[in-house]
Amino acid sequence: RNLVILISGRGSNMEAIVRAAIPGARVAAVISNRPEAAGLEFARRHGIATAVVDHKAHSSREAFEVALAAAIDAFAPDLVVLAGFMRVLGEAFVRRYEGRMLNIHPSLLPAFPGLHTHERALQEGCRVHGATVHFVTPALDHGPIVVQAAVPVLPDDTPETLAARVLAQEHRIYPQAVRWFVEDRLRLTADGRVVLQGVS
Ligand code: GRF
Repeated sequence: RNLVILISGRGSNMEAIVRAAIPGARVAAVISNRPEAAGLEFARRHGIATAVVDHKAHSSREAFEVALAAAIDAFAPDLVVLAGFMRVLGEAFVRRYEGRMLNIHPSLLPAFPGLHTHERALQEGCRVHGATVHFVTPALDHGPIVVQAAVPVLPDDTPETLAARVLAQEHRIYPQAVRWFVEDRLRLTADGRVVLQGVS
């Protein structure tokens, strides 16, 4: 199974997936919308093909997404993995990959869609927080949930300490979700339900 992983920055979730060396999965490419994304260097060091589709180099969102889809499709993906990818994707693009595109979001969706999730969880006085892997659908950060991980919020937490605790869980659940998909145990039904087979 060919994976194409999209990043915008550090790429620690991409790195976790590469390091998981999931049997039957091949990271065919790491693609970024930002030329300076640090994760591209990691991919290159690991002999993984990389590509940059710079959103600033395109006159419109549509033109960017057409170029991005072409770059992705050149690697014939079975699964597109958004990992710290910071562009909102339009409906046509999402529909093209529906059922074979995952994202990870640093909150327990449906709580805290959007940005600055750790600050917001602290502001709300949450006692638990976490991360969510979901299929990508046109509704931003609201796709069918595959797996979640919860972490405690501690009294002296800062956004940074909370983010680090959540990130450690992201690096556990994202490779797990990708493994389930590669093993044909995870799929999205036509009516938007997640089916997970043979998982305890
Ligand atoms: C992570 O918190 C992830 O949940 C969010 O972007 C952050 C950075 O991810 N999508 P990464 O280190 O670039 O994978």
